[in-house]
Amino acid sequence: MGTAEGVDLRVEIAGIPLKNPFLACSGTFGNGREMSELVDLEALGGLMTKAVTLEPCAGNPPPRLWETRWGMLNSIGLENKGLERFLSEDLPWLSGFDLPVWVNVAGFSVREYVEVASAVSRSGLAAAVELNISCPNVERGGAHFSRHPGETAGLVARVREVVDIPLFVKLPPLTVGMGEMARAVAEAGADGLSLVNTIPAMAVDVERACPRLGNVTGGLSGPALHPVAVHAVWEASGSVDLPVIGMGGVWSCSDAVELFMAGAGAVAVGTLNLVEPRAVPRLVEELRGFMSANGYLTVTEMVGLLRRKGWR
Ligand SMILES: Cc1cc2nc3c(=O)[nH]c(=O)nc-3n(C[C@H](O)[C@H](O)[C@H](O)COP(=O)(O)O)c2cc1C
Repeated sequence: MGTAEGVDLRVEIAGIPLKNPFLACSGTFGNGREMSELVDLEALGGLMTKAVTLEPCAGNPPPRLWETRWGMLNSIGLENKGLERFLSEDLPWLSGFDLPVWVNVAGFSVREYVEVASAVSRSGLAAAVELNISCPNVERGGAHFSRHPGETAGLVARVREVVDIPLFVKLPPLTVGMGEMARAVAEAGADGLSLVNTIPAMAVDVERACPRLGNVTGGLSGPALHPVAVHAVWEASGSVDLPVIGMGGVWSCSDAVELFMAGAGAVAVGTLNLVEPRAVPRLVEELRGFMSANGYLTVTEMVGLLRRKGWR
């Protein structure tokens, strides 16, 4: 329970109450079904689904994962069974748990994003939409929606019109100034930010002289990404007054606390789930111990602490 031992782990983010501040990152927890055999889903503060697109998507050619010294490369792509099956099979099943669900919405055109986000909102079964803007816009020659603040803001504004639940926008770390991007997204009507998505990356098999990933390039996640995520959270939370969910290489409780202190109101665990499916319950207990030992009664006391102590 959130309040045992005098420490209260409950947080509220964009008006959504969470029993603890640890969510599972999009794409690293499936849509909960397989993981439910390994971990109690209700031990999570919240779950972010795998990306959902309008039509079923096959994803990228194998191999799709490559482990690096300090992280992992993936090129899963947007593999998913499409909106219709997600709404009939996965979301109703997930809604049977005491677990707020952020539905990660992806698309290849503004119209697709709008259609998927609108249907998710109308279903009444999701706590929030998480807009994955790291997708190629096929109507603009394949440049990513996240490349220009103006294009991102245009997309967010269109989705905002059709979504009645909190709208989070998930940003990659290496965007034009994080502050500029965060402001554009906030002005377009977002209710929160998810920070960060993976960094574009590549590895080469030098014996065979070929890329390690079937898609040639992929995204870097895991511990190597962590300080980048802390920096992104710091920059964004200093620029806009929006709740932030921090993610990137959270491996231990102190990784999570770093993100809180930099400005995140909750954190999400990603790659770690692949090697330790019960990571979140462990981190919850570690956080409880850290808070007791350091005299924090609520998570909120840690959120944005660096700025309250005068750091700029
Ligand atoms: C295998 C894998 C699949 C992912 N799929 C998605 C996805 O569908 N949508 C999305 O927004 N992010 C996706 N991500 C990014 C994660 O949600 C997260 O932002 C990123 O991995 C950083 O967190 P981590 O270092 O804790 O993994 C994926 C990451 C991994 C490793």
